[in-house]
Amino acid sequence: MADAPHIPVMLNEVLAALKPAADEVYVDGTLGAGGYTRAILDADKNCKVIAIDRDQTAHDMAARWGNDYAGRLTLVKNSFGNLEDALSALTVESVDGIVLDLGVSSMQFDEGERGFSFRFDAPLDMRMDRNAGETAADIVNHMGEEPLANLIYLYGEERKSRHIASAIVKARAIAKITTTKQLADIVRSVVHVSPRDKIDPSTRTFQALRIAVNDELGELESVLAAAERVLKTGGRLVVVTFHSLEDRIVKNFLTEKARPAPSPSRHVPMALDAPQNRLSFSLITKKPVLPTETEMKINPRSRSAKLRGAIRLGDV
Ligand SMILES: C[S@@+](CC[C@H](N)C(=O)[O-])C[C@H]1O[C@@H](n2cnc3c(N)ncnc32)[C@H](O)[C@@H]1O
Repeated sequence: MADAPHIPVMLNEVLAALKPAADEVYVDGTLGAGGYTRAILDADKNCKVIAIDRDQTAHDMAARWGNDYAGRLTLVKNSFGNLEDALSALTVESVDGIVLDLGVSSMQFDEGERGFSFRFDAPLDMRMDRNAGETAADIVNHMGEEPLANLIYLYGEERKSRHIASAIVKARAIAKITTTKQLADIVRSVVHVSPRDKIDPSTRTFQALRIAVNDELGELESVLAAAERVLKTGGRLVVVTFHSLEDRIVKNFLTEKARPAPSPSRHVPMALDAPQNRLSFSLITKKPVLPTETEMKINPRSRSAKLRGAIRLGDV
């Protein structure tokens, strides 16, 4: 396992939004290297954290420091999309805060054999949980050309998606695509780099496959819905996203849930109008919080980060 440090993104802003306090229980849905979890536990000596990650690497790392917080830290190997089941298994009904730091950790990118990065020639895997589900190789070798093109277009926001899907289908008819290098070379053969391009032409295709392999957007939708149900009144939801697809999901969720209920229409009876438009959150900040210039310089990974936060309102 590579030991590249993962610098927590927007840590001060996350703590300011979450406001850890005595006797409260928080969920860190994305344990990773434990940057947020430890900072929350350090911010108040009497709070507790339930830290979830579906990647065993995060848990192996936590085994090295978890004892420092004995009795206050519970580690859970699961997907945050299963938040309610994970909490039920711990007989926890509700929590005071939920924080998510989406995407892949630096360790996952830097562990070449995980297949997340075209910087290393490795098996085309990309699963955060290495014991479950389809790999990126399964997708590129078995998916039909059109759905593959759609996947690359939607999740990678790649304009050349049709050319890439066609090149993948041609290449796999000759030999199975099993490595990151094979895939990157196929993409590079159809997406040409202009000298002004700052990113490798295969970046967007790799992002698309990673999102699909890990059902990242479905997981996000599930955890947001669960957050509405498990947060106590006054509980805080804090989400850091790294690309527009994730941010749009959080923004749309909060826009809907934190929007003032429309005034009752003359034409719609109150009983029908009320429940689905109930206001369940208030925004902590109207606009997303962005990293400071200084943080962006120190930690380039933070450049695309956006933090959105909201407070759970009481049920009426
Ligand atoms: C960006 S890192 C988190 C870093 C962490 N905040 C820190 O400061 O060290 C994201 C972590 O979330 C995990 N992860 C991503 N999606 C997940 C999901 N749906 N369920 C559980 N863990 C997930 C990844 O395995 C990864 O370890």
